[in-house]
Amino acid sequence: MNLPETVSPPRPAMIPLADPGAAYRAQRDVLDDALGRALDSGWYILGGEGAAFEQEFSAWLGAPHAVGCANGTDALMLILRGLGIGPGMTVATVSHTAVATVAAIEMVGATPLLLDIDPDTYTMDPDELVAVLDDPPPGLPPIRAVIAVHLYGQACDLLPMLAACETAGIPLIEDCAQCHGATLGGRKLGTLGHAAAFSLYPTKNLGALGDAGILATRDTALAERISAIRQYGWKSRYISDMVGVNSRLDELQAAVLRVRLPMLDGGNARRNAIATAYDDALAGTAITPPVRREDATHVFHQYVIRSPERDELAALLKEQGVGTGIHYPVPVHLQPAYLDRVALGPAGCAETEAAAREVLSLPVYPELTDEQVVRVCEALKLVAG
Ligand SMILES: Cc1ncc(COP(=O)(O)O)c(C=O)c1O
Repeated sequence: MNLPETVSPPRPAMIPLADPGAAYRAQRDVLDDALGRALDSGWYILGGEGAAFEQEFSAWLGAPHAVGCANGTDALMLILRGLGIGPGMTVATVSHTAVATVAAIEMVGATPLLLDIDPDTYTMDPDELVAVLDDPPPGLPPIRAVIAVHLYGQACDLLPMLAACETAGIPLIEDCAQCHGATLGGRKLGTLGHAAAFSLYPTKNLGALGDAGILATRDTALAERISAIRQYGWKSRYISDMVGVNSRLDELQAAVLRVRLPMLDGGNARRNAIATAYDDALAGTAITPPVRREDATHVFHQYVIRSPERDELAALLKEQGVGTGIHYPVPVHLQPAYLDRVALGPAGCAETEAAAREVLSLPVYPELTDEQVVRVCEALKLVAG
């Protein structure tokens, strides 16, 4: 007997959580030209491309000084070093962040103090910051700086934190690794604190084709110190005026970043359009879309939903061809390298630990096609409905 052949339709390709290769392919011609220009110049580290990128980035951000470096972790470390933060000092930040934020504090020999988050925005609880600045935890060195992390593309509750730091007479450093172009009260994040660190890792809203970072400040003396520290403490070649490190921005990455900087605002607008489509798809389901802070613009570095059944949800989305991620699955204070030795604030980190169990990031990047966005929306309606 001849049975009719059954041919199942090909499954559409998985939509990855991030796709830096798609960004390269979409921009191949302009990027190859820029890379060729940098290669032909014969100068590969701290040259014309890097200087031009620093100048263009500071103009775009609206900060008087920008200093390129090797990555976002080093940008934080360089700011701390430039401010004289080191052993015998505590730096307050959050546990719900990339481990890099905490690693940078320990790189300068300072002691991290990890505070809890507001469960709606996943960013530092400013009341706990005020409490520890008023009444520092016993046994810790004095708190000499705060790193405010703007997470997922949106500002943390910065204004009360800035006020608390001003009262305490200590600098607030913005960790802007995830918020290139986001604003608060009409001002770009990265211009409100004493200094700001930006990662330019390939999947960031402004990303290189390798590791890169940049920091910004209005403090001229700080920018000059950091420009020296990033290259062995040199003010002039081969003479170290201070103890430095090697954390330089290379010319190939700078050339790439100069091509991409003018595309950043458009890319952020596309991320917002995708986020709105996901919001609409989630309307009427059990899952609430990410909370947007009033008086702020979000740039959706990540689109993060929350569910007590997070792992099941991720598995169902995977079945529908939608890749997801978790930012972050284990809070810094529970990771083996930090467990039982980093200090927590008086609140403990219960909200942080709950978020780590429940958050789920969906694909959101400018190169997602309309068809892919529709597929994610259909999958969301199916699995969250
Ligand atoms: C919040 C945050 N801080 C710091 C960093 C460190 O940046 P990089 O990976 O460029 O060192 C990252 C990036 O992973 C980040 O997301």
